[in-house]
Amino acid sequence: MKLAAELEPMFTADRIARRVEELGAQIERDYEGKELVLLGVLKGSYIFISDLARAIDLPLSIDFIGLSSYGEATESSGVVKITSDLTRPIERKHVVIVEDIVDTGLTMRYLLDNMATRRPASVKLCTLLHKPSRARTRIPIDYLGFEIEDRFVVGYGLDANDKYRNVPFIGVLRHG
Ligand code: IMP
Ligand code: MG
Repeated sequence: MKLAAELEPMFTADRIARRVEELGAQIERDYEGKELVLLGVLKGSYIFISDLARAIDLPLSIDFIGLSSYGEATESSGVVKITSDLTRPIERKHVVIVEDIVDTGLTMRYLLDNMATRRPASVKLCTLLHKPSRARTRIPIDYLGFEIEDRFVVGYGLDANDKYRNVPFIGVLRHG
């Protein structure tokens, strides 16, 4: 079976592209004249950040942070390790964190707290997806792609065991 056929589509590639254009336009309006850094959280945001960056017609820089959550693979423990850090300081820069999905919010809580210690001019969060029903801590989301129910989704950068990231749309795994 083809890879994409293993998924029940939730958001088509076209629908994602339209939403990403809107988010980019919003960020473009908000950051004109400011030193903007898009900070992608690896690996899940790699496709989203590349599309989003091209939807923002402003000078900006791109950096990445690698995070891994200790504990169970499918449930965030809140104990987070930085596996790969930023390449440049963000002091006095305006940072927009680019994430694939905020689930319990524990990963983002850690990242927001950690970023605050680095004295940026500002930090905002742009996430493609949000599962509000799973929230365990309140995370302010400044730019949101889509709110979803409590389903495990993959594609467009999101994975299950590192698989399906390259599927161009977002969907739910079919059973069997
Ligand atoms: P949180 O700390 O529970 O908010 O977890 C956030 C991380 O868990 C995300 O950055 C994803 O890497 C992963 N994650 C949570 N839900 C999903 C999902 O439905 N599909 C794929 N990855 C997910
Ligand atoms: Mg992630």
